[in-house]
Amino acid sequence: MTDPGERLRSSLAADQAVGPDFDSPIAMEAMRATRVLHAADQDPFPAPGRIRVVTIANQKGGVGKTTSTVNLGVALAFYGLRTLVIDLDPQGNTSTALGVAHTIGTPSIYDALVGDNTLAEVTHPTTASPNLFCVPATIDLAGAEIELVSVVAREHRLRRAIETYLHELPATERPHYVLIDCPPSLGLLTLNALVAGDEVLIPIQCEYYALEGLGQLLSNIDLVRQHLNPGIAVSTILLTMYDGRTKLADQVADEVRNHFGDLVLKSAIPRNVRVSEAPGYGQSVLTYDPGSRGSTSYVEAAREFAERGALLPAATAQPTTPPPPPPVAGPPSVAAMVLGEPATAPTPRGRHAT
Ligand SMILES: Nc1ncnc2c1ncn2[C@@H]1O[C@H](COP(=O)(O)OP(=O)(O)O)[C@@H](O)[C@H]1O
Ligand SMILES: [Mg+2]
Repeated sequence: MTDPGERLRSSLAADQAVGPDFDSPIAMEAMRATRVLHAADQDPFPAPGRIRVVTIANQKGGVGKTTSTVNLGVALAFYGLRTLVIDLDPQGNTSTALGVAHTIGTPSIYDALVGDNTLAEVTHPTTASPNLFCVPATIDLAGAEIELVSVVAREHRLRRAIETYLHELPATERPHYVLIDCPPSLGLLTLNALVAGDEVLIPIQCEYYALEGLGQLLSNIDLVRQHLNPGIAVSTILLTMYDGRTKLADQVADEVRNHFGDLVLKSAIPRNVRVSEAPGYGQSVLTYDPGSRGSTSYVEAAREFAERGALLPAATAQPTTPPPPPPVAGPPSVAAMVLGEPATAPTPRGRHAT
């Protein structure tokens, strides 16, 4: 009788003789992983017609804003597009998932919004890709909602910072994409992101109450378009945490597609445990488990998003001229209206007020 080790060796030798079995789930996954990891050598994504500044917003927490920002960012970078991810949530989850330090004292978005730093000074490289950079958020940012109240042109701070950043970079180093991950609220930080962006990407979780509260976000975007940023519009809806085994997920997906039509990307992101494990290792799912369904679906969503971007007309004026000086603070009532603040703005309570 042959011993088990011998049987294993001879069965492996037999397998090698007939070549790898690409029908087995493991081989398929390995093949998909190879495809993701060698992405740039294959078919790179098309560059957008102009720099796309994309605000990822939904005032509900836990719908996949951070996960989508991180994984779309990594996918765009893997497939050859220079990408800057800005973490605008004091929780700093985007920074964590990209492996970028965000302990107190780390130069962060707070220093560019409230302090005197330029965005370039607070931009960090990432280990995921040489094409991917991240502006981290530290817990200091939690105070920014209050500290910004008294700052001149408070709702334009992020826009100015991005404009100056793009203007000062040589054209060959400017990002193709700037992705801004918003906190789960409709305060001054999200308002800054809506004023800074050219378009909004809304992740919608395929669960009950998916559309609840969206009306408020959409009407805020309308107010911002009317008063602060005429260029802003919802360009993309991404369905997240789709569980094909449940009827509910299909019903929600149908409802969202009926409501938003072509704005909804065809690729939905499935609920996949590898996606939720990745941040614990300071990684995106594309680097943590490139062959997983979570990874490949984010690549497909990013491809579709990039292909739509390639159809955008070129900007009439790329940032080759210095950005105009900050406006004298717009009528304070506009931001107050968007934020639903009382007529008189509250007295600022200073740094780190709680
Ligand atoms: N496709 C997915 N499959 C499984 N878990 C997911 C998926 N997308 C997000 N999650 C998990 O859901 C939680 C909320 O996601 P997150 O991106 O942080 O939401 P938000 O930024 O909107 O608050 C996180 O724990 C994340 O890991
Ligand atoms: Mg988040």
